[in-house]
Amino acid sequence: MKEKIKFSLNGRPIELETDTSQTLLWVIRTELGLTGTKHGCSIGFCGTCTILVDGIAERSCSLTVKKIEGKNVTTIEGLAQDGKLHPVQESFIRHDAQQCGFCTPGMIMNAVGLLNTIPNPSHKQIINGMNDNLCRCGSYNSITKAIESAAQEMKGGNKL
Ligand code: FES
Ligand code: FES
Repeated sequence: MKEKIKFSLNGRPIELETDTSQTLLWVIRTELGLTGTKHGCSIGFCGTCTILVDGIAERSCSLTVKKIEGKNVTTIEGLAQDGKLHPVQESFIRHDAQQCGFCTPGMIMNAVGLLNTIPNPSHKQIINGMNDNLCRCGSYNSITKAIESAAQEMKGGNKL
C-alpha cells in the first residue's frame, strides 16, 4: 500500500509516497538512486547492504521502509563530509582492505556502526563485530587492520 513517509537520508530530509512494505534497500537503490549500498543475499545473511539507522548498523534488505519513519539513515554516500572521506574509508584505502569491492560499502558501514558503539574496540571485539559481514575475496585481515587503525585515529570522534 502506498503511503507517505518522511525520514532523513545522509542529512537531507526525504518525503516519499511509496509502498512502505518494500525494503529500505530497494527504495534507496531504485527510488532514490543511491546504488552504493549493495544487494547481496536479500535475507540478512551477508551484510553487503549494511547502512546506519540513527548511527546503528542495520541490514537494509531486512528493514521495511515503514520502519524508518522519522529516523536518520546514513548510506556509504553520506560518510564523506565537506569533500573529505571518513577515517574508516581512508583507512580501508591505506590498508588495501578490498579486492573486488562488492562487500566494501557494507563492511565500511558496519565498521562505522561498530566504532559508534565501541570507540576503542579490542581485536576480538572487531572480529566479533564484523563476523557477520562476508567477503568472498577473503580480505578479512586487511579489513580488521583498517578498522583498528581507524579506531586509533578517530579516538572516539567522527560519530554519525
Ligand atoms: S543483502 Fe542484506 S544481508 Fe545480504
Ligand atoms: S572485496 Fe570482494 S567480496 Fe569483499
